[in-house]
Amino acid sequence: MAQITFTEPYKAAKERYDGTMKYNRCGKSSLKLPALTLGFWWNFGGIDPYCNSLAKMTYAFDHGIFSFDLANNYGPPFGSAEETFGKIYSENFRAYRHEMIVTTKAGYNMWAGPNGQGSSRKMLISSIDESLGRMKLDYVDIFYSHRYDGETPIEETMQALVDIVKQGKALYVGLSNYPIELLQTAIDYLSAANTPCLIYQGKYNMLVRDMEKGHIDTLINNNVGFTAFSPIAQGVLSNKYLNGIPSDSRIATGKYITTANIPQELIERLKKLDIIAKSRNQNIAQLATSWLLAKRGMTSVIIGPRTIEQLADSIKAVDNTSFSNDQLSKIDNILAL
Ligand SMILES: NC(=O)c1ccc[n+]([C@@H]2O[C@H](COP(=O)([O-])OP(=O)(O)OC[C@H]3O[C@@H](n4cnc5c(N)ncnc54)[C@H](OP(=O)(O)O)[C@@H]3O)[C@@H](O)[C@H]2O)c1
Repeated sequence: MAQITFTEPYKAAKERYDGTMKYNRCGKSSLKLPALTLGFWWNFGGIDPYCNSLAKMTYAFDHGIFSFDLANNYGPPFGSAEETFGKIYSENFRAYRHEMIVTTKAGYNMWAGPNGQGSSRKMLISSIDESLGRMKLDYVDIFYSHRYDGETPIEETMQALVDIVKQGKALYVGLSNYPIELLQTAIDYLSAANTPCLIYQGKYNMLVRDMEKGHIDTLINNNVGFTAFSPIAQGVLSNKYLNGIPSDSRIATGKYITTANIPQELIERLKKLDIIAKSRNQNIAQLATSWLLAKRGMTSVIIGPRTIEQLADSIKAVDNTSFSNDQLSKIDNILAL
């Protein structure tokens, strides 16, 4: 990793909105989100070098990315990504709060005891208070129900979201990881309560296309924004695994994915994608990100760079989102193999 030096206090680049970043309207709201959002799931936790997190957040902001995606349990350890954000924000970004879109979520494992996970009213309302404390914020811009937990009545979870907005702790609400059978019910509840669902966050990349089986149509029909996570399948959709497992990669460091995620047949497909990427002057990660950005209904793609070089690399994908029909059908054929 390149040596990163940084002089505080941070002053944002004056030309931050003059570059290549594009902005998309979020569903029926007039709110605009940058084509890329910076995600804090891994790579911003208590175990990660603080100066690297600071450098990535400032680099992103300097390049027009003002949207930052967190959750209560991002780290590791749980809560520590929000703490990292809180330190960076309070020491460097207070003057820019009005420009920033900060999101957090609750729903997965967070604290001990039977109510320390899930989508109950107790969990969501306790969690937002803790998140605001860690992030040193008075409010978040978007608060998400992180998942449907399989047992909490939808009405209970949705009313908790509505009340969080009424309490002034969030400006908007969003949903993530909801089954298609419940998505419309959840959207309808929020609309009827005058707290419309601003945006849906779902896993979507060249290798995982479940969103195409109903979610995207539902979101477009209801004028709800869409943001995709794990756009390069946690690094699998890149050039890094073509010739082995690099020692600093997410697979080698035992984070969430393993060598089972990169079988030989996938490497062969990646090599074919690399040929298309090269023909577009891109690498595979950029191709995969551009491919997502070109999808209908896409508001913002949430990237998870470990290094500042990866961040800079991914930003270039925004510039190159036109695909010929021939390229798209070749890509589909490779993905269908
Ligand atoms: N709502 C949800 O349930 C949910 C779930 C997951 C994620 N998310 C959100 O989505 C964000 C992104 O998810 P993700 O981390 O899975 O995204 P991702 O971008 O698919 O994967 C990130 C990993 O890809 C590699 N990478 C990133 N940029 C690269 C580049 N330009 N070239 C080569 N490799 C690159 C790095 O791997 P190495 O470390 O191996 O280099 C990095 O750790 C999260 O931070 C979070 O905000 C939401």
